[in-house]
Amino acid sequence: MSETMRAITQDVYGGPEVLREAQLDKPEPGPSEVLIRVRAAGVNPTDWKHRAGQGFLGEPPRILGWDVSGVVESIGTGVTLHKPGDEVFGMLPYPFGLGSHAEYVTGPARAFVSKPAEVDHVQAGAIPLAALTAWQALNDTADLQAGQRILIHAAAGGVGHLAVQIAKAKGAHVIATASKSKHEFLTGLGVDELIDYTSNDFEQVVSDVDVVLDPIAADYRSRSLQVLRKGGVLVSILPYDRDELVAEADELGVRAELMLVEADQAGMQAVRELVEAGKLRAEIAGTFPLADAAKAHAQGETGRTKGKLVLTID
Ligand SMILES: NC(=O)c1ccc[n+]([C@@H]2O[C@H](COP(=O)([O-])OP(=O)(O)OC[C@H]3O[C@@H](n4cnc5c(N)ncnc54)[C@H](OP(=O)(O)O)[C@@H]3O)[C@@H](O)[C@H]2O)c1
Repeated sequence: MSETMRAITQDVYGGPEVLREAQLDKPEPGPSEVLIRVRAAGVNPTDWKHRAGQGFLGEPPRILGWDVSGVVESIGTGVTLHKPGDEVFGMLPYPFGLGSHAEYVTGPARAFVSKPAEVDHVQAGAIPLAALTAWQALNDTADLQAGQRILIHAAAGGVGHLAVQIAKAKGAHVIATASKSKHEFLTGLGVDELIDYTSNDFEQVVSDVDVVLDPIAADYRSRSLQVLRKGGVLVSILPYDRDELVAEADELGVRAELMLVEADQAGMQAVRELVEAGKLRAEIAGTFPLADAAKAHAQGETGRTKGKLVLTID
């Protein structure tokens, strides 16, 4: 008889209430995969969007979750990077490799890097998807350089607050939008200029920006194009309606890029180095035992989270 594990699953699309804990088959690592005993796993907006039926995946049932921090339990054929007992963290291949909201998950060995000894599993489980998104947006897509001016929207959110730290580590001048109650937090992360978007239109008070990181979309994308210097770049991480946005950017002499996070060993190594150097740390907005995944979804869906929500698995 196969071994089982506790996991959060859903049978239908819907609100947080469709999530339920179940005993499911414990996975086995295939060739070049590792089996990880999950200790902590971040909850991201993509989890609640997919739960509700928005995204890239087919019909449930499924186990959500892309962030992983845990301990290698066993390795599949050909794995040399990790061995049983290693503490690792990483992001399962987005979007089709999901399943970390469970006691065990399998994934490609190269999705994971060793967890810095300085941080616990909650911290390491909060980081991968949001930090890789920020890293790929700023480093790979925008090629952000020291001394450049970057505007980061939703800077107190999961992606935003890690992007702020990555931009500072790169020596950029960081301008951020957030509601007033989050300004002290963001000043503590090194933000140079803060805009309370609830009382100011950012495009009235910012200009001559080299890079904009936009996790909001809607009218933020067009408005953000207005604040770029000629040749500047807007990176939108809500990659829909590409053609319209690119045409609008072309007319203004700026660039628009729409990106999705990808599995990325080099990116995870860069993220780990920043964590080890004390330059990147997730703000933990809340931790929830696995059984309370629905509560984590409900809290996240308010859209007001400062930092990250994390599931813990004992
Ligand atoms: N393309 C990709 O690969 C990718 C990867 C990761 C995330 N995403 C997407 O990016 C979005 C953000 O993700 P996240 O994890 O950062 O979300 P999150 O943690 O839920 O973001 C919450 C934050 O957004 C801020 N916020 C909301 N509306 C705002 C506004 N109009 N102006 C400024 N700040 C605002 C809130 O601050 P206030 O309370 O101050 O408003 C809050 O701190 C989601 O839609 C997610 O699906 C895409």
